Amino acid sequence: MTLHSRITGTGSHLPPRRVTNADLVAQLAEGGIETSDQWIVERTGIRARHFAADGVQCSDMALDAARHALKAAGRDASELDLIIVATSTPDMVFPSTACILQNKLGANGCPAFDVQAVCSGFVYALTVADAMVRAGSARCALVVGSEVFSRLLDFSDRTTCVLFGDGAGAVVLEASETPGILASDLHADGKHVGILCVPGHVAGGVASGDPFLKMDGQAVFKLAVGLLEKSARATLEKAGIEAADVDWMVPHQANIRIMQSTARKLHLPMEKVVVTVDQHGNTSAASIPLALDHAVRAGQVQPGQTVLLEGVGGGFTWGSVLLKM
Ligand code: UT7
Repeated sequence: MTLHSRITGTGSHLPPRRVTNADLVAQLAEGGIETSDQWIVERTGIRARHFAADGVQCSDMALDAARHALKAAGRDASELDLIIVATSTPDMVFPSTACILQNKLGANGCPAFDVQAVCSGFVYALTVADAMVRAGSARCALVVGSEVFSRLLDFSDRTTCVLFGDGAGAVVLEASETPGILASDLHADGKHVGILCVPGHVAGGVASGDPFLKMDGQAVFKLAVGLLEKSARATLEKAGIEAADVDWMVPHQANIRIMQSTARKLHLPMEKVVVTVDQHGNTSAASIPLALDHAVRAGQVQPGQTVLLEGVGGGFTWGSVLLKM
């Protein structure tokens, strides 16, 4: 019998502090930085984002999202035999946020590690977990995307600081006789390192280099729209499924215009696209599981439906996963 992996529960966390465009416009104006709600909405679709309070760590948000996902799956943390956290904003340089999360969950003993693929992180982590479940090395995995991107933002750079937010999303992925994850497709091209990066590093006991996020937005935009369509088509082909048979697309939530473009290229109506970027901004590796959980809890994404996840981010990295809920 072929072994498959299937999502059995989803969960998410948003920090309580919601920052609207108007709030951000006012905050930036104090520092002499000019932006507007109109610019942000027209260019990105973002209306609000959540920022974590000082002292709240990536693992804290991951913990809350994980608890919700475990509850939805009807599982106890002690049943987990694999934990993967996708993040670019870990609690520490090391150990991994996955190890810190494991201890907070009281699931000590199972393998736990982080995946760093920036905004494609969740798609990468889910693909790795699926492979481990299908290989028989795990039966009940927790896959989390959690980010405190607000800590990387330069609030004197209006081209980036209006785009990102904080949050976490999680899924429980279990061994199953019926197919859940149908196919996936992952890529990276390191020649694009410079277009989206945080160039800082720790050396000699001090953070050196630039510790803030840098992005060539137009270059990222252009690459994203081409690569996402290509990856989605590759995944659909591997699974032998037509785009028309996809019930929902849950894309990385970076920019509504990128999502609209991908949907148009795949001939998917926007009614089939889960959109949370308006309320969450870009939460990097957290955006896909956050959006998925919101869609599940809103009764949009239903058991048995076919869902296409796709993400793109720093590296450059990109990929997609097709699954049955
Ligand atoms: O999560 C990883 C993936 N990341 C992404 O997918 C992001 C991809 N890129 C984008 O989403 C878009 O490129 C942005 C939203 C970042 C920028 O939108 P754009 O339509 O590419 O704008 P632009 O960079 O071409 O800038 C247009 C104008 C510029 O002014 P000039 O040179 O035309 O006078 C900018 O200086 O908008 C100006 N601008 C702003 N104005 C008001 C840039 N940021 C702002 C701002 N408020 N916050």
